[in-house]
Amino acid sequence: MRPQEYLLACISCGETYPYNEIVYRCRRCGDLLEARIEGGEVFRLDSLQGRVHSIWRYRELLPSFFTRIVSLGEGYTKLLKAERLAELIGVRELYVKLEGLNPTGSFKDRGMSVGVSMACTLGARSVVCASTGNTSASLAAYAARAGLECRVYVPEGKIALGKLFQARMFGARIHQVAGSFDDALKLVMEKSGGEAYILNSVNPWRIEGQKTAAFELWEQMGGETDYVVVLPVGNSGNISAYWKGFRELLNHGLIDSAPRLVGVQAAGASPIVEMLSRGLDRLPDWPNPDTIATAIRIGRPINWKKGVRAIKESGGTAVRVSDEEILQALRLLATTEGIATEPAGAAPIAGVKRLVDEGWLGREDKVICIATGNMLKDTSEVLVAWNQPQKH
Ligand SMILES: Cc1ncc(COP(=O)(O)O)c(C=O)c1O
Ligand SMILES: [Zn+2]
Repeated sequence: MRPQEYLLACISCGETYPYNEIVYRCRRCGDLLEARIEGGEVFRLDSLQGRVHSIWRYRELLPSFFTRIVSLGEGYTKLLKAERLAELIGVRELYVKLEGLNPTGSFKDRGMSVGVSMACTLGARSVVCASTGNTSASLAAYAARAGLECRVYVPEGKIALGKLFQARMFGARIHQVAGSFDDALKLVMEKSGGEAYILNSVNPWRIEGQKTAAFELWEQMGGETDYVVVLPVGNSGNISAYWKGFRELLNHGLIDSAPRLVGVQAAGASPIVEMLSRGLDRLPDWPNPDTIATAIRIGRPINWKKGVRAIKESGGTAVRVSDEEILQALRLLATTEGIATEPAGAAPIAGVKRLVDEGWLGREDKVICIATGNMLKDTSEVLVAWNQPQKH
């Protein structure tokens, strides 16, 4: 078998680039890039036993060319069965993946381990990102671990305090942008390239790390894929990463069929749902995204093409839920199962309820919800209001 080789390929025109070229978008057509592996071996379910408890247990499908791996033990997060909630919502089985258990409290750590390892391998001295909060917390930690300088751009006054605190704690330079996340990302993409290595999810190496969550579901469910996976969608990097992971399992013959993927957006920031429900072929404009789930307050998802492809190719769907439904779902999950997450992480539970009401999901379905972030990061005003001492 020939050794593993990676390259970058454009998802539209197929143009390829060497893996070690710093390029975020296709130079020929401007579209998104993805990392592709050619050759090499793959793991099997029984060859994983005894391996490290992190994303790096799936090393055959991760880059093997890194000069240094920057890790904080990310991945290998718990998958809990939620029997009471399944019964209440009306599905056969419900599982919740606790991505808030990652080192900085969100799934972003999977992608940052690979992304920052790439930064080191390329010889970068500094890294940069725009963020709704979790990306900045994660990048700041991995940059500190690697000894790199880190700058983060966040929408002023619009990110959760806990996340800002993390970025600060890990020593990042924080730039508050007067505008939305979309403005902050535009600024980073237009101004930062060249000086610093960009680690938003437009960077295909982030997706390589995040795809390991699909391998984990496969492993944790004993090699089965007879379930629907439900995720919150902002930039739609994560849902594309899950799809890439499942596609790789398919290509290697490790599964016969992939699960359907469902994307859940907050009603005030739901351009992908709008696009799919109206049968548009482009993302509609969404100038003022707004939701209590700050992590997914995104109007111009940079990875929308990959996200839409993941939803369509997997036979899934996209659904929007109101802030009220998100808060109810958050509380329901917490009070029936003792599992809590940040508001964006509860959007999938709200989405499942919706889809059961609409008949898209029902008593025969097995569902996995991805609780993407830790409960202690985003305790916004509405949540704080719950915590007022009760009068007796
Ligand atoms: C907690 C949480 N959930 C979901 C998302 C959305 O992920 P993506 O932007 O990859 O769609 C984010 C992104 O910031 C997040 O922080
Ligand atoms: Zn192209």
